[in-house]
Amino acid sequence: MGEGRSGPWRLRPRTGQPRQGARFTDRLTKSAARNIFYGGSLFFLAVFIALVAHSHYYIRAVSTDESKLTPSVVAGKRIWERHSCINCHTILGEGAYFAPELGNVWVRYGGREDPD
Ligand code: HEC
Repeated sequence: MGEGRSGPWRLRPRTGQPRQGARFTDRLTKSAARNIFYGGSLFFLAVFIALVAHSHYYIRAVSTDESKLTPSVVAGKRIWERHSCINCHTILGEGAYFAPELGNVWVRYGGREDPD
């Protein structure tokens, strides 16, 4: 910790003595630095946990309409994940751009007129 904010420019050449007017009291002490580190880490860990909890709540309660999750929707999601369709396709804009967006394929196959 030799060269903090009060680096060598604060010292006289050769003697290493503080220059006139140099104040060493504004230096961050080791324990203050440690407190900032642990305090900051704990604070942001708490923020992170709160955000994870909020995301979980939001997905369950707001962004997913569970009443519309039929067995075929669930089976489709399983297939989508097991066979990694997302490595090539997008669905609702999410995924890779190698193969056609399957939302558009669904429309082209007549999904809007006859969803089943
Ligand atoms: C290795 C990359 C790859 C993977 C993995 C993949 N696809 Fe494809 N898929 C393609 C490509 C490329 C096309 C376009 C073929 C064409 O238009 O000639 C295509 C076409 C399609 C089509 C027809 C599109 C049309 O225009 O008729 C459907 C439906 C489809 N894929 C569904 C799936 C599903 C479901 C999965 C997962 C089980 C999947 N694909 C996995 C590359 C992939």
